[in-house]
Amino acid sequence: MSVDLSLSVVVLAAGQGTRMKSTLPKVLHCIAGRPLVEHVITDAQELGARDIHIVFGHGGEQVQQALSAYDLNWVEQTEQLGTGHAVEQALPAIPDDHLVLLLYGDVPLITVQTLQRLIAATEGNALALLTAKLVDPTGYGRIVRDAAGKVQCIVEQKDASTEQLSIDEINTGMLAVKADRLKKWIAALDNNNAQGEFYLTDIVGFAVADGVVINTANPDEICEIEGVNNKRQLAELERAYQLRQARQLMEAGLTLRDPARFDLRGELIIGRDVEIDINVLIEGRVELADGVQVGPNVILKNVSIGAGTQIHANSLLEESITGTQCDIGPYARLRPQTNLANKVKVGNFVEIKKSNIADGSKINHLSYVGDTTMGNDVNVGAGTITCNYDGVNKYQTIIGDNVFIGSDTQLVAPVIIADGTTIGAGSTITKDTPADALTLSRAEQVSVKSWKRPKKIKEE
Ligand code: UD1
Ligand code: CA
Repeated sequence: MSVDLSLSVVVLAAGQGTRMKSTLPKVLHCIAGRPLVEHVITDAQELGARDIHIVFGHGGEQVQQALSAYDLNWVEQTEQLGTGHAVEQALPAIPDDHLVLLLYGDVPLITVQTLQRLIAATEGNALALLTAKLVDPTGYGRIVRDAAGKVQCIVEQKDASTEQLSIDEINTGMLAVKADRLKKWIAALDNNNAQGEFYLTDIVGFAVADGVVINTANPDEICEIEGVNNKRQLAELERAYQLRQARQLMEAGLTLRDPARFDLRGELIIGRDVEIDINVLIEGRVELADGVQVGPNVILKNVSIGAGTQIHANSLLEESITGTQCDIGPYARLRPQTNLANKVKVGNFVEIKKSNIADGSKINHLSYVGDTTMGNDVNVGAGTITCNYDGVNKYQTIIGDNVFIGSDTQLVAPVIIADGTTIGAGSTITKDTPADALTLSRAEQVSVKSWKRPKKIKEE
């Protein structure tokens, strides 16, 4: 659908969120790592909104700070006198010829597709309401239709007759209408109702009286219209959102062993034939090229993984890049600024930080490599440590090509290990090594023949 109209989105976010039992304002609680209200704001952006107005109340400064990256018009509602009153606060900033789309900061799973249908339902200058049929409509405003099926009004739960309470079509609260009409109707609201509030929903009756057509649109899924009022609902919508992302990724060709045990808090870009095992957490921006396999319980945060690389169970990779056909883990940790070239092996209990490792090098067991540049085809023995820190400064370790480092070696930086060096096991290397030679530092082995093992003296 082409949006050739000027769209103003109003987001209601003035509610306190008492039931969250939290010092954080409700709309700042996160789903998939992003504040609830941010999900709604990015929808508005995708719809091509000219202006986005956020009606805020409690915790305003905190919300504004959290959303400082967005271009938003902040509208304060000092007293929460009802949804009609909340919308009224935003109206002075909206030009009469704009289409107004009303969204809620605590209803995060609404989709752009559904909202496009809602906007399309304003065709012919109609009032468009987003409604849904619920098995249990308790608590919601009900959509009252006449015998011909035309919407007559919305009646709130607390104001409804027994007969009206049996209506299963509910008001989601989301609607779209031209600003000039909305302004006229909002100005006419009163608070003569069971809750003493200015009900936005009363505009529907005014629209009927003005002979304005009222159309309805529906969401694809019920979770799209569900709000967050407590931690339980927050967790339920988190799962619903994760499942939605998982489905989209599977449609794009990802093999997910169990979509119910997959969490994406950010953006995942996948090649062909990528496989992800259970309990994997992906954060930030992650790229997995063709044929990448991710084992169970892996955490990937802002990484780019080259084609054919395998990441085995329980590995944690952060702000790192790998080339093709690397083999990582199980239990490997790549810390920020790690760059692995192609066919690099990083085994269990290996930690690498701020280092470049060239093609074919292997660090297979129990090592720490930090602030290091490593050449091709290096073999790093078990328990090798780069001593890169003297308590004040960090120093570089430079390792050439075809180096063989014996197990349990300490490389005390700054130090240069020349091409072809072999280091004997158990060495503490403090000086640069010459190329193609054996270098070792090792105390001579002694045996004490007269020595006796201490014996336990039996007590009486
Ligand atoms: C409202 C609708 C109801 C609908 C339901 C859907 C009205 C009168 N009723 O009822 O028909 O079925 O939503 O959930 O509109 N808010 C403000 N300022 C206020 C009042 C509310 O910003 O003064 C915000 C709240 O933070 C919340 C939203 O508006 O995000 C809805 O308010 P709430 O009081 O929960 O409305 P309901 O009574 O549930
Ligand atoms: Ca030692």
